[in-house]
Amino acid sequence: MVFLRRRKSLKTMRHNMLHSSNMVALAAIIFCLCAPHAAHAQSPGPGTVTLIYSTSWATTYLHYNPDGTGWNGIPGAAMACPTNASYPCAGWKELTVAGNSIVFVTTDGTGQWDNNGGRNYEVANSGIYQLENSVITTLQTFADVCPGSPLQCSGHGTCANGLCECSTGYYGVACNKTCSCGGVHQTCNANGDCICQSGWSTCDASNPCAVDTSNDTNNCGACGHGCFSSHVDTYTCVAGVCNVTCLDGFLACPSGVCRVECGLPGCQTYQDNQCSGNTIVTDPSFANHTWQTFPKNSSNYRASYQDYAHVQGHARAEYTSPALTSATLVIVPITRDPNAVVTCSFDDGATFTSACAAQFSADNQTSQVYPVIRATSSSHAPATLYLDPVDFIWNHPKIDRTAGDYRTGQKGSIVEMFGWPHKDIQEECAFLSRAGYLGVKMFPVQEQVMSSEPFNNVMNPWYFMYQPVSYRLQGRMGTREELRAAVNYCRSLNVRVYADAVVNHMVGCGNDANPNHRNDNDNYCATWGVKNTSADFPPSFQNQRNGSSPFFSQCFVYEPMEQNNLSPMQEFPAVPYGPLDFHCERALNSWNDPLDLNAGWLTGLVDLNTERENVQQRIADYMTDLLGVGFSGFRIDAAKHIQPPDWAGIFSKLKVNLGGALPADFIVWMEVLTGGEGDMLLCNPDSGYSYSKGLENDLLGAGLTMTEVTQIKIWFDAYPKQPDIDCGQLEMNRKAIQNDDADQQNPGSTSRDMGSQGTVLVIDKDIPLHRQFEEQLFTNPNGASDNSNDYPIRMVLSSFWLPADAQDYGIPDGKSNCDVCLVDCSTCDAAQSMNTTTAYEQGASGYTGNMVGGKYTRVHRDLGIINAMRGWMNLPNLSQSEHDSMMRV
Ligand SMILES: *[C@@H]1O[C@H](CO)[C@@H](O)[C@H](O)[C@H]1NC(C)=O
Ligand SMILES: *[C@@H]1O[C@H](CO)[C@@H](O)[C@H](O)[C@H]1NC(C)=O
Ligand SMILES: *[C@@H]1O[C@H](CO)[C@@H](O)[C@H](O)[C@H]1NC(C)=O
Ligand SMILES: *[C@@H]1O[C@H](CO)[C@@H](O)[C@H](O)[C@H]1NC(C)=O
Ligand SMILES: *[C@@H]1O[C@H](CO)[C@@H](O)[C@H](O)[C@H]1NC(C)=O
Ligand SMILES: *[C@@H]1O[C@H](CO)[C@@H](O)[C@H](O)[C@H]1NC(C)=O
Ligand SMILES: *[C@@H]1O[C@H](CO)[C@@H](O)[C@H](O)[C@H]1NC(C)=O
Ligand SMILES: *[C@@H]1O[C@H](CO)[C@@H](O)[C@H](O)[C@H]1NC(C)=O
Ligand SMILES: *[C@@H]1O[C@H](CO)[C@@H](O)[C@H](O)[C@H]1NC(C)=O
Repeated sequence: MVFLRRRKSLKTMRHNMLHSSNMVALAAIIFCLCAPHAAHAQSPGPGTVTLIYSTSWATTYLHYNPDGTGWNGIPGAAMACPTNASYPCAGWKELTVAGNSIVFVTTDGTGQWDNNGGRNYEVANSGIYQLENSVITTLQTFADVCPGSPLQCSGHGTCANGLCECSTGYYGVACNKTCSCGGVHQTCNANGDCICQSGWSTCDASNPCAVDTSNDTNNCGACGHGCFSSHVDTYTCVAGVCNVTCLDGFLACPSGVCRVECGLPGCQTYQDNQCSGNTIVTDPSFANHTWQTFPKNSSNYRASYQDYAHVQGHARAEYTSPALTSATLVIVPITRDPNAVVTCSFDDGATFTSACAAQFSADNQTSQVYPVIRATSSSHAPATLYLDPVDFIWNHPKIDRTAGDYRTGQKGSIVEMFGWPHKDIQEECAFLSRAGYLGVKMFPVQEQVMSSEPFNNVMNPWYFMYQPVSYRLQGRMGTREELRAAVNYCRSLNVRVYADAVVNHMVGCGNDANPNHRNDNDNYCATWGVKNTSADFPPSFQNQRNGSSPFFSQCFVYEPMEQNNLSPMQEFPAVPYGPLDFHCERALNSWNDPLDLNAGWLTGLVDLNTERENVQQRIADYMTDLLGVGFSGFRIDAAKHIQPPDWAGIFSKLKVNLGGALPADFIVWMEVLTGGEGDMLLCNPDSGYSYSKGLENDLLGAGLTMTEVTQIKIWFDAYPKQPDIDCGQLEMNRKAIQNDDADQQNPGSTSRDMGSQGTVLVIDKDIPLHRQFEEQLFTNPNGASDNSNDYPIRMVLSSFWLPADAQDYGIPDGKSNCDVCLVDCSTCDAAQSMNTTTAYEQGASGYTGNMVGGKYTRVHRDLGIINAMRGWMNLPNLSQSEHDSMMRV
């Protein structure tokens, strides 16, 4: 701030004059009192002024005032011989003093002064100056002392020790910025940026510094941390913490929620909807225990819950003919308010031709469509539901193999890839294609339970994959888009892809989105909260089509639901399924009682009432959707827990959806564990629960052709030990077989008895024996009399090694690792924590890994097994060198 500095100099002129005309006498007196002192030695540079002075005096003193801080004592600081050889000591003196400016005079210390004719001398910047005959010559300035050159601090500040001190209104290290932030609660920082005043935050860029997070209910404690009032409570934000007050008529319940009633005392839980006698349906009085999804202003709301509190629905593709080249897409909405007005649209530009139905064909729709349902009602704000996209069968590469006995997909070997992420399966498909496999089976691809909290001490045990939350294709093994990419890529290489359809049940009762659960275990009241799903694991950004769907069940709960003040009940709004779509609660205890088998809750999984037409239709619509993303068929999980007539209903509805015929290459294989119940399930056609002749008759009766019946196969678990368990009632071409399967990888699994006729690789770890049984599957399977035609579908399992003690339920995909635990992590068992490894590995051979600790297995890559399979498929053997080159793929 050179300008101000000059003004200050003028103000001190009176003092300066003391050092001019009257100086001689005064100086004489003071000189006697004060010994001259040498200036503190320093070298020229920023913050110093060096004066090289032409004088004939023998001794010379510099009397000066640096930076206006005050004059030094008289006579001043002694000057010395110049350090610059250009100035001889005879005739020149030099001194360097601290300061960025000085006002000065000189004296010989005995009364002679040089004060520039009474005006003093002055230099305004640090630097090196020559003074000769009252003329100051600048030899060098240190103008770069402070930024903002050539004027230091851009002329808008003072430079001190290299740092500018800006004058009012100027900012930045060089004082060359101005700052105008007009907003309330804003201030300029030293750099000239607008920042919020202390205590205020910018939570919305268009409204800067408007939020006081200590008392803002939408941003309590931090931006985005809302405490939302609802119809049961008001929240205030007090000192950055949400504080709930229940509205009149609602009680503050111990768990922190407000309800008309707090629910049950102690550690009790609701026991509603228990089956009595032979009743299997949920009583119609439970119909109104629904619309449980938390609305937008509930503290339990998530963005992915959309407006499921008011509107639900799904899309059904109805293909026009078996050519599968055109379809009617029907949106099926339901609304909480029966008088709500519903409109359907697509948010990608596609249009509806009428109400909630639209026509599409291979000619005009080569991509997915994105349906949206809107409901307007006088009882709530307009509600919107974004459905997951719908794809069409015609959008996927056609399978076209020339060599080999594939029979249009009705014969061949399918590799089951347990725990392999979709993208790894995609990479493996080049190998599968060259090896000649018919296809690959994925494990469940629908939205499923997942958690950041250990379950029975394990992070996300594999069986969570079999606990559906919805039929959205957002599974643990990958997103819908990853799934589509894998399916399309595999198909482009003539490898078919099969899904694992879990349609008998939804989640394990008590694994749901309710915020409060409890269970009285030996007088210890265990409590837990909401479960998340594969659609938001790990917890991440949520919007309408990303994040977990809501899901509710009736177990381990004790408070009425916020939305209807009724006890919680089965509801899966993203399917949608409601309370009556499930059987009443009944433990599945008997394995030979048809009622129990059909309607019991298998290991506590909430059991769908598949006797209901709408449930059959919804399952058929889901299967149609799976075919729409390019799958060729399915394994059907827990199929014997859906009674045969219900299957006839499901498959006949699927047939209608598919234009009146099952596709020529379509197959399913139903998991029907026979064990000791072979007589009822397979031998006796009149048992009332027969999956051989009984199911055949039901299917034929429902309009399927015999060819289509043959496409609906039974996964024949009696292979290899009891191949005649069916008493010859099940046609050989309806039996699908394999050696070991994923279910046998459980500690102490008894679901299948292979005796000495088969072996489970990751348990028995006998590679030569395992290879022998896998080869035998193709060359000479037990029970086959006509190897080429019997058992047309044969499966090979590639999986992962278990830890040393085989006590493990995790998957090495990174999601069963204690490292991903966020909640209650002290209960995560490190010994069962699965390390993360990669499934796809270039060059890996068939039997790889150290046989423990989570490495993936790749049995399908073994040359001996491949050639056994190829022989069965009428394909020539692969040579070792051909196999070697495939390994590099
Ligand atoms: C010495 O002084 C001369 C004449 O003013 C100047 O040109 C030269 O740069 C100075 N040398 C040093 C090392 O400062
Ligand atoms: C301000 O000065 C700094 C340092 O000299 C310089 O980098 C910057 O470009 C200047 N800004 C303006 C707006 O002149
Ligand atoms: C929050 O507190 C600030 C003082 O810190 C006050 O100015 C403001 O009005 C309060 N806002 C509300 C909503 O209470
Ligand atoms: C939020 O709660 C209020 C009652 O406090 C209710 O009137 C309103 O409909 C709710 N809003 C939504 C979007 O559900
Ligand atoms: C929180 O709310 C309760 C219930 O309304 C009230 O009694 C209490 O004073 C509030 N706490 C604070 C810190 O405001
Ligand atoms: C639910 O239905 C039952 C029986 O149909 C009825 O008694 C009850 O009042 C209903 N509850 C509500 C909240 O509508
Ligand atoms: C697409 O093609 C079908 C069948 O030709 C037709 O009915 C439908 O109107 C077409 N849709 C659009 C959006 O053009
Ligand atoms: C569920 O996800 C939410 C965030 O979406 C996360 O805060 C919470 O910890 C998760 N809870 C569990 C049990 O995984
Ligand atoms: C996981 O990795 C750790 C560290 O390498 C190792 O100590 C542990 O045994 C591994 N766990 C399994 C199950 O292989």
